[in-house]
Amino acid sequence: MKDLLRTEDLSRADIDLLLDTAADFAKNPLRSVAALAHRTVAIYMTKPSTRTRLASETAVAHLGGTPIFIRGDELQIGRGETIADTARVISGFASAMIVRTFAQADVDELGRHATIPIINGLTDSDHPTQLLADWLTIREVFGADVSGRKFTYIGDGNNMAHAWLTMGAILGAHVVAATPSGDWAPDPAAVATAERIAAKTGGKVEVLHDPEAAAKGSSVLYTDVWMSMGDPESERTAKLKALSPFKVTNELMALTAPDGIFMHCLPAHRGEEVSAEVIDGPRSHIWREAYHRRTTIQAILYHLTRGELQGSALLS
Ligand code: CP
Ligand code: NVA
Repeated sequence: MKDLLRTEDLSRADIDLLLDTAADFAKNPLRSVAALAHRTVAIYMTKPSTRTRLASETAVAHLGGTPIFIRGDELQIGRGETIADTARVISGFASAMIVRTFAQADVDELGRHATIPIINGLTDSDHPTQLLADWLTIREVFGADVSGRKFTYIGDGNNMAHAWLTMGAILGAHVVAATPSGDWAPDPAAVATAERIAAKTGGKVEVLHDPEAAAKGSSVLYTDVWMSMGDPESERTAKLKALSPFKVTNELMALTAPDGIFMHCLPAHRGEEVSAEVIDGPRSHIWREAYHRRTTIQAILYHLTRGELQGSALLS
């Protein structure tokens, strides 16, 4: 496996290895301080970022490398240089590239033409590095055995919903996305991918439109912003109205399992997708989840640059 372009690129073994390594990086911060010595990692972002940028830059530093942060408007891509040419040039300077942008196809194209690992740091349709931090958090709270548990994403059927279903399917878990029907449901192609994977792993993928039914008995209730980066402002009023029954409140949390927790990839809008009392309350694990972004990205960089991830055969 050269790149991490999509959540479904990861095998179960890859996820286990990455989570074990990330946990070890937290315990032994000096373990691999020379892994990227005298090497650079390009971090190219055409959308804002707090966590992914900070986690990526600090992850490179912890591996002894130098991050080169490049804003969307700073490359010649904006003046018509092709993605393929850009990929070839960056391959000559950096040992890996982390990319945050709009179209998944652009990240895929970078992966095709670059000779270095390309890592998806969020597109409109996926967010694989986030899911590793999420599942490190879940594993710490509940252990690695997912049987008998239900893991529920609630809210907009966006990149996070897609990644949530796919990652849970790879891990053989029962995963749910509870979203409005119609325009703000998950992309049927992403759901089909998760279902194909779940059919092989013994996982269960459900898309529901009833927030109470989805929350009932869940070990995790996970949400995300209702307006994602790049969503048309013209849709805001209708979208927020359609999503209002999906807000995570104390009432919804009361339906979860007795040990059920709240998670959110952040940034959050208190009072919109989640109430302040839930996100700042005792069942919320958002800070641990956010801090896991660094060690999980560090693990991805470490293993991908060493050619140690096998990739998934679940869709072949
Ligand atoms: N969760 C996440 O990706 O946050 P940022 O947009 O701040 O990177
Ligand atoms: N769905 C959000 C996730 C942010 C981490 C967005 O794409 O803006």
